[in-house]
Amino acid sequence: MTDYIIRDIGLAQYGRKEFDIAETEMPGLMALREEYGADKPLAGARIAGSLHMTVQTAILIETLTALGADVRWASCNIYSTQDHAAAAIAASGVPVFAVKGETLEEYWSYTDRIFQFQDGPANMILDDGGDATMYVLLGARVEAGETDLIAVPTSEEEEALFAQIRKRLKESPGWFTRQRDAIKGVSEETTTGVHRLYDLHKNGQLPFPAINVNDSVTKSKFDNKYGCKESLVDGIRRATDVMMAGKVAVVCGYGDVGKGSAASLRGAGARVKVTEVDPICALQAAMDGFEVVTLEDVAATADIFVTTTGNKDVIRLEHMRDMKDMAIVGNIGHFDNEIQVAALRNHKWTNVKEQVDMIEMPSGNRIILLSQGRLLNLGNATGHPSFVMSASFTNQVLAQIELWTKGGDYQPGVYILPKALDEKVARLHLDKIGVKLSTLSKEQADYIGVTPEGPFKSDHYRY
Ligand code: NAI
Repeated sequence: MTDYIIRDIGLAQYGRKEFDIAETEMPGLMALREEYGADKPLAGARIAGSLHMTVQTAILIETLTALGADVRWASCNIYSTQDHAAAAIAASGVPVFAVKGETLEEYWSYTDRIFQFQDGPANMILDDGGDATMYVLLGARVEAGETDLIAVPTSEEEEALFAQIRKRLKESPGWFTRQRDAIKGVSEETTTGVHRLYDLHKNGQLPFPAINVNDSVTKSKFDNKYGCKESLVDGIRRATDVMMAGKVAVVCGYGDVGKGSAASLRGAGARVKVTEVDPICALQAAMDGFEVVTLEDVAATADIFVTTTGNKDVIRLEHMRDMKDMAIVGNIGHFDNEIQVAALRNHKWTNVKEQVDMIEMPSGNRIILLSQGRLLNLGNATGHPSFVMSASFTNQVLAQIELWTKGGDYQPGVYILPKALDEKVARLHLDKIGVKLSTLSKEQADYIGVTPEGPFKSDHYRY
């Protein structure tokens, strides 16, 4: 039996050719293969991976297997899979369950499949957004008698998730608890997933150690920022081909993703405005030269709206009702609830092409909604470029090695990789772009209180 669900295995060769290009742009991952390939520090690890099944993720998967891990994979979003990348991974013998445009029911059944190793339960999770971790922990709580947790779904997502949990409970009683107890650790990719982990820990519901990969400097200050700087406009262009120069674009949120997104739109010639709730980020936006406004003030006049907050109900029905004809609305944060898409369901929808819908408002004005409110850079384009994902994924691999080989030293909780490793990740990416580092003399190092080899900053330094 083939142990994969993908669009078309015939796309494998195309995927493999793109892997060849990506490998040359992912020096961090390739360096880890060289450094650890012989020792196989991940031997015995059975990693359940839930992270956008793209070309870049394929290079991550092949790094994990080169280091000895057994891996099963699904996407963490129904629109983010690159079918040729999934095909090439399936052809290499790694079980993968990911189809661009899969249904929510399929999404949760694929999440379940990543835990179904033949020779024992998964013992590690590599997560992006926290769905894989949540699936196991929620299921175990229901199994322990908290059945009210899945009594009343409040969204389509929950309906599909709860149905999958019920199915697994019926088919294999006790599975969730056994699976939870087998997990040695989880490494989490993104801001939203990290929020969920800290919440779990605060509520005494995190039974294993977790590494917050997002808050490695070489992740959030690079992927979230420079990654979005390249991939946001890419997504809007592929979706709409709209002329960006001269348009008024509104970026909701000016955190790391917002900073990259605003820079992306400005780089394309748009006149960019920002909304924020945090005075520090609002001041940063203003001093970076962006007008800081409220959404109410600009809903009727702007051309492009992008949410980057990781929060819910940011663009609401009342805003969309105010928008002008053919305003473009999209989200680059992790979940689709930043925009009140559910409130649009009773309007007239016209599908323009995959992941692009035109929705008619009561006034007769239409809005163009990208990826039904799911992260548009992965839904409408191909996500961040390889080079920046190499930095993120090098942190992921280091986190997996740390938790697999030394997990026993950690109490349940959420941890960040030490600064020396963060600096190592950056160092691995310098040669590729011709960066020459200066070196501190012993006297200089003493003067600023570091060693010539680093770490060069204290833990509270903010970059
Ligand atoms: P962050 O916490 O640095 O930034 C979010 C910002 O939104 C904060 O400054 C906050 O004050 C602001 N905010 C919150 N509610 C708001 C509201 N109602 N109106 C205006 N501003 C509001 O988080 P970060 O790292 O920028 O991540 C944002 C989201 O993007 C998360 O969901 C994260 O998981 C996701 N993400 C997506 C990526 C992609 O490729 N699409 C890449 C990296 C992260």
